[in-house]
Amino acid sequence: MPQRILFVCLGNICRSPAAEGVFRDLAPEVQTDSAGTSGWHLGQPPYEAMQLALRARGLDISDLRARQFNRSDFDRFDLIIVMDEENQAEVEALRTSGNQTPVRLFTDYAKRDGADHVPDPYYTRDFDGCLNLIERAARGLKQALGVPISREK
Ligand code: 4NP
Repeated sequence: MPQRILFVCLGNICRSPAAEGVFRDLAPEVQTDSAGTSGWHLGQPPYEAMQLALRARGLDISDLRARQFNRSDFDRFDLIIVMDEENQAEVEALRTSGNQTPVRLFTDYAKRDGADHVPDPYYTRDFDGCLNLIERAARGLKQALGVPISREK
């Protein structure tokens, strides 16, 4: 089972910190982090509206700070989860030859949703819809890793 999972989006203030917050609550035994392919929000806490949407579900992600994905992350994590194909391309472009760390779309773990990416609520403003998809993908990911679902919500 992968012990270190990195969630990646564009800004690292909406989708990937939300994914990290949901997944670390579901699987505290797994080491998690998140990063953005851009450095636009370096050092910033998650976007306020996303923090509020998570707080309404009992989750606090105010401790997280944005950072930029870099090629050393391939060595520091066992699995990299991206929110869309653009993130995937940006991440893959930094892969060093010989590195085998899998890079997977988060929506691959929520097949029943039929979504091929996690829509960016920074643009759609649908923070709850985004979180619903993230929660289902997080459960699917946990199941795929072989960690029993201990807490049904
Ligand atoms: P995220 O959303 O990739 O889910 O963190 C975004 C946040 C900020 C910007 C773009 C996407 N931005 O252009 O500043």
